[in-house]
Amino acid sequence: MLNSKIINWYEFNKRDLPWRNTSDPYKIWISEIMLQQTQVVTVVDYYYRFINSFPTIKALALADEQEVLNHWQGLGYYSRARNLHQAAKSIVDNYNGVFPDSFDEIIKLKGIGVYTASAISAFAFHLPYAAVDGNVYRVLSRLFGVSESTNSPKGKREFQSLADELMADAPPHLYNQAIIEFGALQCTAKNPDCEVCPLHAQCFAYINKQQNVFPAKKKKVKVIDRFFYYLYIYNEERFLMQQRGERDIWRNLFEFPLIELDNKIELVDLIKSEAWRSLLRDVKVEVTDQIVTKAHKLSHQNLHIEFVHIRVEDKEFEKFSSLIRVDKEAARDYPMPKPIEMHLARE
Ligand code: ADE
Repeated sequence: MLNSKIINWYEFNKRDLPWRNTSDPYKIWISEIMLQQTQVVTVVDYYYRFINSFPTIKALALADEQEVLNHWQGLGYYSRARNLHQAAKSIVDNYNGVFPDSFDEIIKLKGIGVYTASAISAFAFHLPYAAVDGNVYRVLSRLFGVSESTNSPKGKREFQSLADELMADAPPHLYNQAIIEFGALQCTAKNPDCEVCPLHAQCFAYINKQQNVFPAKKKKVKVIDRFFYYLYIYNEERFLMQQRGERDIWRNLFEFPLIELDNKIELVDLIKSEAWRSLLRDVKVEVTDQIVTKAHKLSHQNLHIEFVHIRVEDKEFEKFSSLIRVDKEAARDYPMPKPIEMHLARE
């Protein structure tokens, strides 16, 4: 049986990861949400810190949103943290703080889709759901030579039924961890070492030397370019920040005052712009530095970010009544986008 070969491989090759040593659905849920867009090696530390600070659903539900976001700082895709927080509150309100134990209830929680509901159902409650994430998708497409991609409903159905068939009567918690790990370590995206793979004799891609043809490439999404000029208005003790709005990337996070433009411009032209004048009006400023960073890539956007350092006297801070004056030592209290965090770390 193919599934027992995968499980055998897993028993010999698995990594010891903290969420594999628990059947607490809360901990499994946190790990799966973190793992959605982030690599295992990065997640481990965040996972421990998060569970330490919010050891139970109730603790998470009672926490301040800002505190939860602080624990997410650097992981990106902050809506994941907001959804976790809201879902924790709804578990307290609707299930008396006890994580629901059926797929149909789990999938109703905010931020949980078919993959995550299947993973939690299988890992925590040993229910027969086969979870299909990017790793599993790669294994199945190579093993069975499937050229559909998962962006279509037809493709999703096809992979789900292959995964269900492959799991068959295997223990769901073991099978799912095994095939995810197999995809992550053995059936890798680039240069898989097929010679040592226990499935190669049955693998369509290996037999046909088409490891690079599968999985089928997803259709490209359109990526837009944005040009961010951040004004780091500072002196020795403090600097200025503002909070982002609700409707764009980095919702509600804190950043330096921003001039966003449709294209790149030179500093001399930035200083002459209307946006610059309206921000800095009658303030006496001294531009002390300009730092151009390499494009920061999000899933649908390339952000071209420059930081312009502007030194001002302490009394000038009073002229920026709509901005937040932040003491340098207190910067950590403000959840911020990764590029801002990295910039401050360099300062
Ligand atoms: N990626 C998604 N879920 C995972 C898990 N449980 N272990 C390792 N990598 C994963």
